[in-house]
Amino acid sequence: MNEMEITFSALLVNENFARTSVGAFLTPLNPTIDEVIEMKTIVAEAVSNAIIHGYNNNENCKVVLKMSISEDRTVQLIVKDFGKGIENVEEVKAPFYTTLKDLEHAGMGMTIIDTLADSFEIVSEVGIGTKLIMTRQLKEHLG
Ligand SMILES: Nc1ncnc2c1ncn2[C@@H]1O[C@H](COP(=O)(O)OP(=O)(O)OP(=O)(O)O)[C@@H](O)[C@H]1O
Ligand SMILES: [Mg+2]
Repeated sequence: MNEMEITFSALLVNENFARTSVGAFLTPLNPTIDEVIEMKTIVAEAVSNAIIHGYNNNENCKVVLKMSISEDRTVQLIVKDFGKGIENVEEVKAPFYTTLKDLEHAGMGMTIIDTLADSFEIVSEVGIGTKLIMTRQLKEHLG
């Protein structure tokens, strides 16, 4: 098992830091380009949700990103915030569900994660925070 954990400020500029970190940690596995793009997309959606919804863009708050890779090439990503929490974790995975009704938010982040990940669990408590646990099995690397 290979593991990492990073903590960063709830600033949207750090979305790219999270994407890049995930890509870098995957490098020894020699993943396909699609696998890298999809893992980066998963983490970007999770991190932006933590910052925007969990913390209301309060840069004094911190987002935790954990990643582990097991022998069988299963990658687990955990994105955690200690923000406002989600009342009904079932409804947020539905396409177009959003509590921010502006043009920038289509309500597709959780749906995208659900589509790209092999498993996707949301653990959340109102007033305590939210943890997203996602796994993805990478293809066997040939050659
Ligand atoms: N970390 C979080 N803390 C609190 N609420 C959250 C969190 N993540 C998601 N939510 C809630 O779930 C809803 C759906 O999230 P989702 O990512 O699917 O859509 P969105 O962020 O509103 O729009 P988009 O991701 O398309 O920009 C959000 O509008 C918000 O109400
Ligand atoms: Mg979102």
